[in-house]
Amino acid sequence: MIHQYDVIIVGGGGAGLMAALEASKEVKTAVVSKLYPIRSHTGTAQGGIGAALGNVEEDKYEWHVFDTVKGSDYLGDQDAIEILCREAIEMVYELEHMGLPFSRTPEGKIDQRRFGGHTRNFGEAAVRRSCYAADRTGHMILQTLYQQSIKNNVEFFDEFHVTDLIVKDGTCRGVVALEIATGEIHIFHGKAVLFATGGFGRMFKVTSNAHAFTGDGVAIAFRNGVPIEDMEFFQFHPTGIYKLGILITEGARGEGGILLNGKGERFMERYAPTIKDLAPRDVISRAMYREIREERGIDGKDFLHLDLTRLGKKVIETKLPDIADFVRTYLGINPVKELIPVQPTAHYAMGGIPTNVEGQVVVDEKNTPMPGFYAAGECACVSVHGSNRLGTNSLVDLVVYGRRAGKKMARFAKETDLLPLPPEPDAKTREEISRVLNGNGNESVAKIRETMQAEMMEKASVFRTESGLKECRIKLDGLKNRYGKVQVQDKGKCFNTDLLEAMELGYLLDLCEVTVVSALNREESRGAHYREDFPNRDDQKWLKHTLAYKTDQGIRFKYKPVNITQYQPKERKY
Ligand code: FUM
Repeated sequence: MIHQYDVIIVGGGGAGLMAALEASKEVKTAVVSKLYPIRSHTGTAQGGIGAALGNVEEDKYEWHVFDTVKGSDYLGDQDAIEILCREAIEMVYELEHMGLPFSRTPEGKIDQRRFGGHTRNFGEAAVRRSCYAADRTGHMILQTLYQQSIKNNVEFFDEFHVTDLIVKDGTCRGVVALEIATGEIHIFHGKAVLFATGGFGRMFKVTSNAHAFTGDGVAIAFRNGVPIEDMEFFQFHPTGIYKLGILITEGARGEGGILLNGKGERFMERYAPTIKDLAPRDVISRAMYREIREERGIDGKDFLHLDLTRLGKKVIETKLPDIADFVRTYLGINPVKELIPVQPTAHYAMGGIPTNVEGQVVVDEKNTPMPGFYAAGECACVSVHGSNRLGTNSLVDLVVYGRRAGKKMARFAKETDLLPLPPEPDAKTREEISRVLNGNGNESVAKIRETMQAEMMEKASVFRTESGLKECRIKLDGLKNRYGKVQVQDKGKCFNTDLLEAMELGYLLDLCEVTVVSALNREESRGAHYREDFPNRDDQKWLKHTLAYKTDQGIRFKYKPVNITQYQPKERKY
């Protein structure tokens, strides 16, 4: 079946819905989503959206810019960061006017709280910048944008798994999708396609990411010749529930929670004397690993404690109700009285599909756009987060760059004719599905995935070494081989989640390989990428973005410069 739209958005999370809302004001727009949109991963974002409103204390967007550049360990593009922090303010008010139920100050303004790496006056002390709706900010954004999109007549294709991009003569012309309920293949033919397909934390064993976060869009772009940028930078959030990885928002520390080691010490005083438990995530995650390695974990084990008992019942129940429920449900712990066992959890991909500040996907070091192809949100790399994202800046990124992409696509679609489809645009998808369904090997998807996640967690997470990464690469080669021999149990068409999981594993394996090879290649430490054998940042050699290309000879790299407008790199102290 062939569907025609001016603009086709793949992904129903925050970035996709924001872009859809904007594009649908001008042109015929569809959202094609693997999940029901309100089940998208944006819904799990807890602690807030950063914007220098200055509602509870003085703040300026220029300070937000500085913090984001420094947080990125100077790899973020400063022109894009400036747009992010400036437009954050109008976007928060726009969301408020759409009906988003923000938490309020006693005078009725949007309330704001502290968050990691956000400071006043260029690093002096933590500032209250995160606008929040209790600890359900992402959930509220998603609900608000979905309601508005329905009102604007965006058409939704829910539970459609996009399997391929249709590119001819260097121009994007649509996507191929599998309707999960029926197993039918659909072709979405359009003038502009936006990928807003989220991240790929499912590469790792311990992650805050939803099961569906398997990097589909990034891998599909990569397989279609688009480079992927800065894949060596993957963020670990300091406070995942021990072993489960479920997020305990940084907002908990923003409200006054602290981290403790096995000796009961507030160890962040040693690693970040100025902002302590509100240092950026790369700094805290490394400190936690060090405490554990130096045998100061709790009872000598590989976790630490988050102490929220000092916040009191009222703050926990009103400002952090969801995380309080999570720890009661999953751990049987009452956070008002007991300490919470935590460990760093794979949280956010700084790398992804390279775009310019209008959301256009760019395919080389000269930033040449691929006509008709756009990306926004976690799957994209603008790059505003550089090598380490600050908390709250992902929700800002979704709405600021989602809206910019939506506007640009609408303009493009109005000026452009629909180009014809190539013959058999779904041939690759049919072949792939048939290979998986008819494969007569004896390998199991679940076993390959489990080994991959354990290997990535051990060798490519917070600390990395050349030998570990090399071992990991060899292991991944073996897993890719085995992947060619997978056998799925369900051979049917309706709701074949066996097939879906097999395809998702293929995406993850591709992205693991790029992550590991990019991490091996970058012989320095910067932001979330820490090489024990190259422990220092090396601006001379490595102040540049990596572009990884899939070629017949394996992964090839090119580089593009970082856009520096105001802040020359400095030593990063907190
Ligand atoms: O800690 C959190 O609430 C996560 C926020 C984020 O990743 O931006």
